[in-house]
Amino acid sequence: LFAGETDFVKGVVAMDGMPPDDRIEVCFAGRSNVGKSSLINALTGRKALARASNTPGRTQEINFFTCGESHYLVDLPGYGYAKAPIKTVEKWQRLLKAYLSGRATLRRAFVLIDSRHGVKSVDEEIMTRLDKSAVTFQVVMTKADKVKDVEREKIMQQVREKIAQHPAAYPEMIITSSEKGWGVDVLRAVIANLV
Ligand code: GTP
Ligand code: MG
Repeated sequence: LFAGETDFVKGVVAMDGMPPDDRIEVCFAGRSNVGKSSLINALTGRKALARASNTPGRTQEINFFTCGESHYLVDLPGYGYAKAPIKTVEKWQRLLKAYLSGRATLRRAFVLIDSRHGVKSVDEEIMTRLDKSAVTFQVVMTKADKVKDVEREKIMQQVREKIAQHPAAYPEMIITSSEKGWGVDVLRAVIANLV
């Protein structure tokens, strides 16, 4: 799947702008700056496919990328970023909610959690939304290169306890570092095996 073509399709700012739902779709959700765009770049082996940056709130549209012939990878705007203008934040949140509840071909949402920070209340809100719309979600721990093993274990225990409360959660987490390439193969295999 990942040996095939990857291309940017479009950036969407409203539900009526979505591309046709004729592919298997996975999306990457998570707090601003958690590493969504970087992970998409690591998965596809393209350094600058999805725009990543140290400025939170970088991704402001729902960006669709083709992955092989059969899949879309979907980069979502981050949530929980307080510094953007309130009107902008509200617009993103509405779009995000509409997308997470209303996309029939969405097979799995990857909810990205920073290995240093664990699950925050905004993450729980997204998880609850996914429960409601019955979209299976799987937690992907990001930036694993930034923490020591013992610290990560502590955080992961917190994450396990949190996701145990969510019926839509897939129990297995994936530990990644886009920087080091850790866990990227595992995540590729998970995506390739979704049908
Ligand atoms: P928004 O689009 O603003 O929501 O952010 P995002 O979740 O797409 O984050 P992005 O991929 O832009 O990454 C944010 C910052 O974290 C960038 O400076 C990345 O270089 C850095 N980063 C991402 N992944 C990793 C990682 O695995 N390890 C380290 N050390 N840094 C990372
Ligand atoms: Mg981004």
